[in-house]
Amino acid sequence: MAIRNIVKIGDSILAKTSRKVEKFDNRLWQLLDDMKETMYHANGVGLAAVQVGILRRVVVIDCGDGYIELINPEIISSEGEQFEEEGCLSLPGESGITCRPAVVKVQAQDRNGKWCIYKGEGLKARCFCHELDHLDGVVFTQRVIKEIKE
Ligand code: NI
Repeated sequence: MAIRNIVKIGDSILAKTSRKVEKFDNRLWQLLDDMKETMYHANGVGLAAVQVGILRRVVVIDCGDGYIELINPEIISSEGEQFEEEGCLSLPGESGITCRPAVVKVQAQDRNGKWCIYKGEGLKARCFCHELDHLDGVVFTQRVIKEIKE
């Protein structure tokens, strides 16, 4: 495992759309292991592959209730809304209030290609939405309805 550099805002890669993962091989597992280590090292709750410069639909998340890996994730249902503070490892020092669904269900493959369904509420729902946005080149500041200035 290795800690990779986190891409910061200003790098045009963050606006690009990530491609689907087709091969569930050693290269993917290496990427996942590195992303996991990088996320924990940065004290993040989620990380998308584009944030380490890889345009693949891969996300790792740990909102305090366990580590999960999402490959080719898609939101299959969402309900309600929440207005909470968000930040991003690629935008250090920036935060703002976003509007996100209160509850989301995500369908994704695991590192072996098996499809699973995950449910997220509160922080986890925000995290799912935030990380999946990264896969489509969207950063949270595009969703901010109220900026927080320190
Ligand atoms: Ni982010």
